[in-house]
Amino acid sequence: MYESEFPLHDSIIYLNHAAVSPWPQRTATAVKRFADENVAFGSKNYPTWNATESRLKQQLQQLLNAASSDEIALLKNTSEALSVVAYGLPWESGDNVVITSQEFPSNRVVWESLQKYGVATRAADINDCDSPETAILDCLDERTRLLSVSAVQYGSGLKLDLAVLGAACRERGILFCVDAIQSLGAMRFDVQACQADFVMADAHKWMLGPEGIAVFYCRHAVMDQLELKQYGWHMLEDPHNFDNRDWEIAASARRFECGSPNMTGVHALHASMTLILETGMQTIEQRVLENSRFMIDFFSQRPDRFQLVTPTAEHRHAGIVTFRPVQEPPESLFEMLGREQVICALRGGGIRFSPHFYTPRKRLFTALELLDG
Ligand SMILES: Cc1ncc(COP(=O)(O)O)c(C=O)c1O
Repeated sequence: MYESEFPLHDSIIYLNHAAVSPWPQRTATAVKRFADENVAFGSKNYPTWNATESRLKQQLQQLLNAASSDEIALLKNTSEALSVVAYGLPWESGDNVVITSQEFPSNRVVWESLQKYGVATRAADINDCDSPETAILDCLDERTRLLSVSAVQYGSGLKLDLAVLGAACRERGILFCVDAIQSLGAMRFDVQACQADFVMADAHKWMLGPEGIAVFYCRHAVMDQLELKQYGWHMLEDPHNFDNRDWEIAASARRFECGSPNMTGVHALHASMTLILETGMQTIEQRVLENSRFMIDFFSQRPDRFQLVTPTAEHRHAGIVTFRPVQEPPESLFEMLGREQVICALRGGGIRFSPHFYTPRKRLFTALELLDG
């Protein structure tokens, strides 16, 4: 059904969207067209490029259900957006930040680096617990300034209940930051429903875009709390008034974009987003969960051979399913899968499969059959 958009090479089975996704055909076409336009006309049509950038921000606003596209900035990657938050807030010695024990380094290192300001990072142990939200909330205290979690953990695939965490943070006056890279484009996401203050995600995973362009959502009411650490022409209220000596910082999240945008990335991600929004997040989420259920059932039926790292309850996972072989190290099975051209990853102490909504069930079944060997 989606084969024309994803004409992946017949030799491979691509189960690695939690790492770096293949581009849809329309994204490649948009980038080729943009390259040709640059070759033939240079930047003659820059106003239309700006219009594409504005439309991209509107698409991302829709994906996140943000109140306004003025709350959306385009940055380089998730790590940069996390750094904008970490180095924008006015910390006091004795403050603490709460994260979880399963975070990818991007959402750990940046907080740990604040130790030089006397800020402690506490990792809530969410391994093997009945309610990860309770474990996280138990770590908050009167000196907690911010809670930063991944919506879906990169290794285990565990999905957190963001609404519960966001409500608790808002009630206690704690800022709520969400690394959404393993969720956006796979699962429905609503920044207003989960009361997030900051959300960030690079484009190259479930959003099917290129590396080097990321969405950063900053809730309008907290934008002024972030001191800016980078300055340039593009972040000004009136960016094209180059002679203006009496400049002002943009009222919108454009204030976080100091200079010229990544226009190649803008054109690529805009094209990928048209596919995501045309397909619809409800359909995408449903298909992603069906694939996960298919894999979870397969591993659950073979307890003597495989142990699931990913929680089985539907509300506890998204598109990542990680498993460990019981009788051999994951590395050897991973090598076999690599030889058979199954593209996946070693993560979370096991093998991580991450098909997307378009992954044909037949291809997924072939990969699982290889494991049955
Ligand atoms: C949860 C999570 N956060 C962040 C990243 C990396 O972010 P970036 O390269 O966009 O900074 C990854 C990549 O695997 C990830 O899984």
